[in-house]
Amino acid sequence: DWTAASFIETEIDEIRRRVGSEKVLCALSGGVDSTVVATLIHKAIGDQLECIFVDNGLLRKHEYENVLTTYREHLKLPVRGVNASDLFLKNLSGVIDPEEKRKIIGNTFIEVFEDAISAENNFKFLAQGTLYPDVIESVSFKGPSATIKSHHNVGGLPEKMKMELIEPVRELFKDEVRNVGRELGIPESFIGRHPFPGPGLGIRVIGELTKERLDLLREADDIFISSLRAHGLYDDVWQALAVLLPVQSVGVMGDERTYEFTVALRAVTSVDGMTADWAHLPYEFLSEVSNRIINEVRGINRTVYDISSKPPSTIEWE
Ligand code: XMP
Repeated sequence: DWTAASFIETEIDEIRRRVGSEKVLCALSGGVDSTVVATLIHKAIGDQLECIFVDNGLLRKHEYENVLTTYREHLKLPVRGVNASDLFLKNLSGVIDPEEKRKIIGNTFIEVFEDAISAENNFKFLAQGTLYPDVIESVSFKGPSATIKSHHNVGGLPEKMKMELIEPVRELFKDEVRNVGRELGIPESFIGRHPFPGPGLGIRVIGELTKERLDLLREADDIFISSLRAHGLYDDVWQALAVLLPVQSVGVMGDERTYEFTVALRAVTSVDGMTADWAHLPYEFLSEVSNRIINEVRGINRTVYDISSKPPSTIEWE
C-alpha cells in the first residue's frame, strides 16, 4: 500500500543511489511541488543540493520575499535568490498569445538558470516538481487539439542544459504530494497553499503584460486571497485567482466618470485540477471583495465572478 512515509523512504534510497556524490540543482517555484521535491532531496543528499528561486516579476504581492524566508528559515534549504523581473518583462513585451507567453517564460527561465550556473556548472542533475497531471496534460493528452496547454515545467530544460532530470513526484497527484510534504515536516500553511502556475501572473494578465497591469492584478489578487483566508474560506476552494482583463469600461466614482479595467475572480473546487467546478462562494463575501477591489485599487472599476466549469473551460483564462 502507498503511504507517504514509505514513498519517502523509497525515494531517498533511489535519489542517493542515482546521485552518488554528484551535485543536484533544483528550481524552486514557491509552490508546494518543487518545495516538496527540494526538501526530499535535501533530506537524501544534504548540501549536494543547491536551489535557485527566481523572481520573474510574475509572482504575487510580497511573494518573493515571503517564500525566500520560508525556504531559508523554516526549511533550512540552501537557496540562491535571483531577481530577473526586468529580463522577463523585457522578453514578454508586446506578446499576447498565451502559448507564446509560456514559451518565452520557459526560455527565459533557462536563460536565467544558465547564467546563474554558467561559471561553475558542476551540476549533474536537475530536480523538478513535475506532477502527474502536468505530464498527462502536456505530453500524452491526445484530444482534438493534441495539447491543451503546454505546461512550461515539463520538458524543455534538460536538453539545453545537459543535466539529467530528477522528478521524484512525477507519478503523484497533488493531494499525495501534500501528504509527502506533511510527512517531511513542511509547515501546514505552506502545504495548504493553492496551486500556482509556473508562468504565474503572466497568464493572468490577459493580453499584453506591463509592469502597471501586473501591479494592478497583484493588488486585486491580494485582496481576494487575504479575504478568503480572513473568512476561513481559503481551504474550502482548490484554487482561487484573479484575472486582469484588457477591457476598460465606464464607471462612476464620486462625481467623476472613470474608464478602467475589469477583474475577473475565479475560485474552483476540484480534486486534481483535471476537472473543476466553480466554487459557490457566499454572495456577501463576493460583494465585500468586489467593493474592496473597486474602492482600493485605482485602475479597476469592475469585477465579475467566473461561473464556468472545467471542462469545457479551463481553470486559468490563458
Ligand atoms: P488549467 O487552466 O489547464 O489549469 O485548467 C490546471 C492547473 O494547472 C495550472 N496551470 C499551469 N501550471 N504551468 C504550470 O506549472 C502552466 O503553464 C500552467 N497552466 C495552468 C493551473 O493553475 C491549474 O492549477
